[in-house]
Amino acid sequence: MNNYEFTNQWFEKTAKPLWSQIINQSKPEKILEIGSYEGASTCYLIDTLSRHHDAFEINAIDTWDGGIEHKEIKINMQLVEERFKKNTSLAIKKSKKSIELITHKAKSINALSNLITSKKSGYFDFIYIDGSHMASDVLSDAILSFELLKINGIMGFDDYLWKMPNSNNLLTNPKIAIDSFTNIFALRSAIFQTPNHQLYIKKLN
Ligand SMILES: C[S@@+](CC[C@H](N)C(=O)[O-])C[C@H]1O[C@@H](n2cnc3c(N)ncnc32)[C@H](O)[C@@H]1O
Repeated sequence: MNNYEFTNQWFEKTAKPLWSQIINQSKPEKILEIGSYEGASTCYLIDTLSRHHDAFEINAIDTWDGGIEHKEIKINMQLVEERFKKNTSLAIKKSKKSIELITHKAKSINALSNLITSKKSGYFDFIYIDGSHMASDVLSDAILSFELLKINGIMGFDDYLWKMPNSNNLLTNPKIAIDSFTNIFALRSAIFQTPNHQLYIKKLN
């Protein structure tokens, strides 16, 4: 029993089946995650990569203010942030490896721009984009993250097929942004075949 406190199964149902292959095969050492919420994906990375490395670094970006999809259901984001801190502290303590967990409590556009100006271009082995679902935010997350990704690094998007409930506005969904990004960066990336609501690319040049 790991005693983590997660209130949903988003990560369990979508990313985990794919990460059990992608993360165990690519064994990234420098990881960037946009959208950490309660730390389900972060704790999986800590638990899994502790079996492969003595030391690694995870950068977690989140406003801990929720996205448009959280506004109507009125989630207490302060409690979400507290659970992130508690869950990740537990994972690090359990791991006994040297883990640098750097949290950036900021809008992703600002945190990603800061990482670029801090000379982190081409630095990360694995980047996971699961922050804002607004198309304009997903597009800027994708473009700035790609700059931060190493050649042969892997970048994944959650919620490729997610739709804002009760809305026909394409601009509130990630898909149009992910499609635009993969089309425009087609000569610099290769899309992985994945079976469900996610999409992964490898940076070629
Ligand atoms: C779907 S949750 C992430 C789930 C997490 N990856 C998991 O697997 O459990 C999305 C998160 O993105 C954050 N978020 C939304 N818009 C953001 C933005 N513009 N910049 C940074 N974080 C944002 C929210 O606060 C929320 O915690």
